Amino acid sequence: MRRSFKFLSVLAVLTVVAAPIPKIQAQAPAKPGLGNPSVPYVPTPEEVVMGMLELANVGREDVVYDLGSGDGRLVITAAQKFGAKKGVGIEINPGLVNKSRENAKEAGVSDRVQFLNQDLFKSDFREASVVTLYLLPRLNLQLRPKLLSELRPGSRVVSHAFSMGDWRPDKRVAIDNRTAYLWIIPARVEGNWTGTLSTQSGQKIPYRMQITQSFQNARAMAEIAGTTVSLPQIRLVGDRLSFEHRQKINGQDMRVRVNAQVVNNSLQGTAEVLNANSTETLSMTGTRASTDQ
Ligand SMILES: C[S@@+](CC[C@H](N)C(=O)[O-])C[C@H]1O[C@@H](n2cnc3c(N)ncnc32)[C@H](O)[C@@H]1O
Repeated sequence: MRRSFKFLSVLAVLTVVAAPIPKIQAQAPAKPGLGNPSVPYVPTPEEVVMGMLELANVGREDVVYDLGSGDGRLVITAAQKFGAKKGVGIEINPGLVNKSRENAKEAGVSDRVQFLNQDLFKSDFREASVVTLYLLPRLNLQLRPKLLSELRPGSRVVSHAFSMGDWRPDKRVAIDNRTAYLWIIPARVEGNWTGTLSTQSGQKIPYRMQITQSFQNARAMAEIAGTTVSLPQIRLVGDRLSFEHRQKINGQDMRVRVNAQVVNNSLQGTAEVLNANSTETLSMTGTRASTDQ
């Protein structure tokens, strides 16, 4: 682990050395109280900027934050080429903040983007639906708890070059010999749930589920109408939870496919019960009894 960190740091330094040195330095005095940059300025190449924003599927409803925004290229491109309704760049170097504002004016998107001279670790990015990063593995890990706890479920995080340790990406792509990673912020589902499955004829079937969660993966032990079932693979995409399992119901082997939306401590969705000849769709509701995690 130590070796690969060292290797990545050396790689990062080499990238800095190899890249054409940008002329932008601190043209404005640094704000008192703001520390030194945690990582030097190395711009993301334009094709990679496009690829990262495509990977995050940025559109008109998105608020895009770039943490450590350099010359502003990610948020400017998000507004100009992807129609994002708002872009915010957080940058510790005041010279780069000024340059970003000039670049935004030139690109004609000053009304939709803003650049804040702040430390990204102290910034408030809760309104973001997309966060972009080009930092370092160590900084991604440092930022991880803040991303997971402050962003809404379903928000997307895209990182150029660096991963997030044991939080596996939902997708990764290669762009021009570089790697971009995508994570979708999962809802918190861990805890004890109780609820009801309702058949179309009005029959109510109670269930209990004890869910444990690791990022976008979860597993559960469930008790449905007195039968205990193990659900080893629950998938979470933002606030959507889904799983499939087999169960004997009235002596028949059935496939049960669950899709539900989780909003805070409640759950709502469907359970499709399928056998060779028929499908019955039951509605599903649930409440989390315990949120101590
Ligand atoms: C590798 S560059 C990436 C720039 C831009 N995001 C891009 O991809 O082109 C990292 C940027 O983060 C800024 N930075 C470093 N530490 C920071 C901190 N603690 N808070 C805010 N910005 C920081 C640096 O000044 C630099 O501009």
